[in-house]
Amino acid sequence: MRILVTAGPTREAIDPVRFLSNRSSGRMGYAIAQALRDCGHEVVLVSGPVQLAAPEGVELHSVESAREMLAASLDVWSDCDALFAVAAVADFRPKQCSAEKLKRGQGQGTVLELVPNPDIVATLAQQKRRRLVVGFALESHHGRAEALRKMKDKFLDFVALNGPQAQGATRSKLLLLSADGSEQVIGPACKGQVARELVQGVLEPNAPTA
Ligand code: CTP
Repeated sequence: MRILVTAGPTREAIDPVRFLSNRSSGRMGYAIAQALRDCGHEVVLVSGPVQLAAPEGVELHSVESAREMLAASLDVWSDCDALFAVAAVADFRPKQCSAEKLKRGQGQGTVLELVPNPDIVATLAQQKRRRLVVGFALESHHGRAEALRKMKDKFLDFVALNGPQAQGATRSKLLLLSADGSEQVIGPACKGQVARELVQGVLEPNAPTA
């Protein structure tokens, strides 16, 4: 299969030197790209800015903002058979990006007006035509209920639920929920192992676990 993976954070520019972003390291997305490649799949990785090298043999498209990530993903989606949406996309961006560096001024506060970003996985899943779509849900509270809601609202076949401690961590633990109602706990383990079990749980749900 040819499989699209989104990974890493996005950066939403405020001015030429500042941006809004989050703590995502991209490790889980890159580990999933590697696990998919190791299973013999062709992998297209659309990644926000991270300090990681793309796994060898993976087709890398580097982006900065959520809108760039959406455009790069839409470009390749028609040739792909599945999507793993692992990116920690910034939900909002500044309404305006100042062409000049904002000055500190006279010490008074500044209000930054934000507008919502597009939902990348939901946009692609709306055009899914029987292709497999896997999303993540990063929740601090009411995790299971929120993950199930996201699975429905974003047209996902699977959702992997994790907590905020996963961001930037080297180990993680996931609850993999399937649209058919089945559930699988994965980890705690290093992200490489979690990625391998997740890929197996999604692509070969009936295989015995390692
Ligand atoms: N996602 C996306 N585009 C966005 C926001 C999220 O593709 N603009 C994807 C993520 O890659 C992940 C899933 O949607 O697969 C859920 O991301 P999450 O941040 O947990 O959810 P949000 O939709 O941002 O909801 P909220 O922040 O309200 O919890």
